[in-house]
Amino acid sequence: MEKKSPLKIENLVKKYGAFTAVDSVSFEMKPGEIFGLLGPNGAGKTSIISCIVTLQEQTSGRIEVFGHDCQKETKLAKAAIGFVPQELINHGYFSVEEILHFHSGYYGRSNNTERIHYLLDKLALFEHKDKKVKALSGGMKRRLLIAKALVHEPELLLLDEPTAGVDIELRTSLWDFVEELRKDGLSILLTTHYLEEAEELCDRVGILQRGQLKKIGPTAELIKELTQREIMIKVSRELESIQHAHLIEQEGQHLKFRVPSDKGVGDLINDLGLDLNLVMDLSIKEGSLEDAFLSILGGDVQ
Ligand SMILES: Nc1ncnc2c1ncn2[C@@H]1O[C@H](COP(=O)(O)OP(=O)(O)O)[C@@H](O)[C@H]1O
Ligand SMILES: [Mg+2]
Repeated sequence: MEKKSPLKIENLVKKYGAFTAVDSVSFEMKPGEIFGLLGPNGAGKTSIISCIVTLQEQTSGRIEVFGHDCQKETKLAKAAIGFVPQELINHGYFSVEEILHFHSGYYGRSNNTERIHYLLDKLALFEHKDKKVKALSGGMKRRLLIAKALVHEPELLLLDEPTAGVDIELRTSLWDFVEELRKDGLSILLTTHYLEEAEELCDRVGILQRGQLKKIGPTAELIKELTQREIMIKVSRELESIQHAHLIEQEGQHLKFRVPSDKGVGDLINDLGLDLNLVMDLSIKEGSLEDAFLSILGGDVQ
């Protein structure tokens, strides 16, 4: 039997009063993938996640988690979800480990020490396990939220800006951990502002703008489709002025071209009829997810 989709969203609309924050969004996740929901501030990412976990009531549309309707079978859907909210919440007076035990008990797992210690270790929190939450730094609180989301061994993990306020070293180890979770079979939906990280981590991405899903696809394919590569050539002597459709700059011995992402360097040199002996230096800059993002959003980026 084919595995059920971890998350299927059909024509989701979320309005706050007269304002439409999510405008008929549809997409489906594949089992075991890391899916990145990207978009500028206010695009509607958190609103979508809030509807999935029923923190916000959807205005219309349908959301299913492993085939369970989030509105009609909320308990079953929620049991499969681990959710890390964008906003840090404070459980001031309890210790890190206590919080995790409470949360585990809430899911009907009262003897879960092994799992809790495993997560504390993975998230570099073990040495802080007896600290009160109010004494933790922002980065530690974020990691505690991630541990909390994972105590009941969910199959779908929702991470809303998980690395906001986490320093760069921890960010890297956090993403390593996310990769590891995926290898264990977890499906992961994340939002992030760090497009470089999304490019490295996400199998597929969806780009949201003002509540609408503008583009969705495998990360590498989107980049290929939406960006161009720049080829810089340094020649050993100044050439006469070159005429070529992709030439964007010719200055002294330096030539710069912007070509479609599937055009090869050899092909370009052939086009130019350039003697290879004249080529002193050559460099290529591939398009990035950020370039793809900008090409879709134009100036509308915050
Ligand atoms: N509780 C709310 N009440 C009214 N408007 C909201 C509420 N939550 C979000 N919005 C608005 O909805 C839009 C989308 O917000 P949000 O989903 O938080 O976007 P993102 O997470 O992509 O930054 C924004 O314009 C925001 O101001
Ligand atoms: Mg948000």
